[in-house]
Amino acid sequence: ALRRVVIAVDGPAAAGKGTLAAALAASLGLPYLDTGLLYRAVARRMLDAGLDPADDATEAAAGLTADDLLRRDLRTPEVDRGASRVAAQPGVRAALLAFQRQFGHANGAVLDGRDIGTVIFPDAPVKLFVTASAWRRAERRWLQSGGAPDLDAGQRRQAIARIEAELAARDAADATRATAPLRPAADAILIDTDDLDADAVLARALALVRERLQASG
Ligand code: CDP
Ligand code: CDP
Repeated sequence: ALRRVVIAVDGPAAAGKGTLAAALAASLGLPYLDTGLLYRAVARRMLDAGLDPADDATEAAAGLTADDLLRRDLRTPEVDRGASRVAAQPGVRAALLAFQRQFGHANGAVLDGRDIGTVIFPDAPVKLFVTASAWRRAERRWLQSGGAPDLDAGQRRQAIARIEAELAARDAADATRATAPLRPAADAILIDTDDLDADAVLARALALVRERLQASG
């Protein structure tokens, strides 16, 4: 049985981190934490207070409550951008660190985000870095948001291209910030999900988890 194991799942926007991490957690009987929600909720608090998410959001992060994470309006384009802005702030990241570590240490967990394998749990025995091409990720986000079936092929390409540009801008900001930039840990295993559906990604990840845990005893 898996006791108190921490599994890190990192990667760029819409790569399929959450889908994989939730399925892994369910398969292994571990708790699951979507750490992106923390940054989204901080951005939401800033916006609701009439503040610019680029301004100091440390207080908003320090005052975060469970209720803030349960809101339904955490996946708007405004919050996407805002989350990336607050996430670049060292004070915000410091305020959210202890919660994430306690969550994982309590009973083990699968956590998904950008810096789980590099900063939050650098000693995690299993680190997965999930990727897919920017176009594929944009297409999936478009489908996820309803996909507007009445569009013709050209309009469809345009809608996906707009999402691709937004994802690329956020990935660039996340990867180039000074604090906890998006990047695979040295010991992370890369999973390219371009041609894999969610079930195939889960099967591959479960095999990797078993391998790594056997190797680490
Ligand atoms: O679901 P998606 O991949 O689009 O985004 P998310 O995982 O909900 O994360 C939203 C934003 O929060 C990211 O663009 C990052 O700027 C930030 N984030 C972070 O910096 N570190 C994490 N561990 C998780 C998210
Ligand atoms: O958490 P993250 O933003 O990285 O991505 P996600 O929300 O788990 O996945 C984005 C979308 O891609 C969802 O609609 C998933 O069902 C879909 N997906 C997929 O089509 N194939 C995969 N291998 C993984 C996810």
